Amino acid sequence: MENQPRTHNNRMPQDARISQHKIGGVYDSIAPLYDIWGKLTESRARDRALELADIRDGQNILEVAVGTGIAFLEIVKQNPSGTNTGIDLSPGMLKKATHRLQPLSHHNYTISIGTAFQLEQTDNSVDTLVNNYMFDLIPFVDMDKVIIEFKRVLKPGGKLVLVNMTQGEKFGSHIYERIYRISPRTMGGCRGVELSNKLFTHGFTIHSREYYQQMLFPSEVILAEK
Ligand SMILES: C[S@@+](CC[C@H](N)C(=O)[O-])C[C@H]1O[C@@H](n2cnc3c(N)ncnc32)[C@H](O)[C@@H]1O
Repeated sequence: MENQPRTHNNRMPQDARISQHKIGGVYDSIAPLYDIWGKLTESRARDRALELADIRDGQNILEVAVGTGIAFLEIVKQNPSGTNTGIDLSPGMLKKATHRLQPLSHHNYTISIGTAFQLEQTDNSVDTLVNNYMFDLIPFVDMDKVIIEFKRVLKPGGKLVLVNMTQGEKFGSHIYERIYRISPRTMGGCRGVELSNKLFTHGFTIHSREYYQQMLFPSEVILAEK
């Protein structure tokens, strides 16, 4: 239980209920409809994350759990001559990302299968790591492993920009936790998490943690620095 922190309102959060080795398949089946969900409930938080990432051309950018490439498209546009790497567990999501990025095929990017638990990047090599709506799928007991891996690849002073489904803080937002309790799959396996404290424990400096609610769906946007 020590890996399962209480939330700001002292509720016991729910843990991940779809195992990591099934997540790729789950997202393969969600991929055709994912962008509609993403636009309706996640676009404000994702846009804010891109603002905070403040990407400059020439950087080494890694997006983990790149999904259908919604954020990655903007990242590559802003960093045409830098290095852009997008990885994800789900071939179905990556197929959509590859299609989305087609118009930028002359830019410097790669999209491939990969896991947050074992990144291919060398130590201290990444300027900015973007990771949207993935920790809400990771069991509490495994979160530290991913954070250690993120920290390993980031340069000293490198930025970590995270978006997660989080615990609801405003009217109506708890509906999604209720749906998850009944059917985790309906929520794509996502439940509300809060990552700032964990990142702080791992030595990250937390510059900001913002709460967004869109169609009642609660998200946190975190800007942290190694
Ligand atoms: C809710 S979707 C978010 C996709 C994208 N980041 C976005 O915001 O549109 C979650 C994504 O995380 C991916 N994922 C889950 N666990 C992962 C892991 N350990 N490593 C890499 N990708 C993972 C899933 O395959 C899925 O594409």
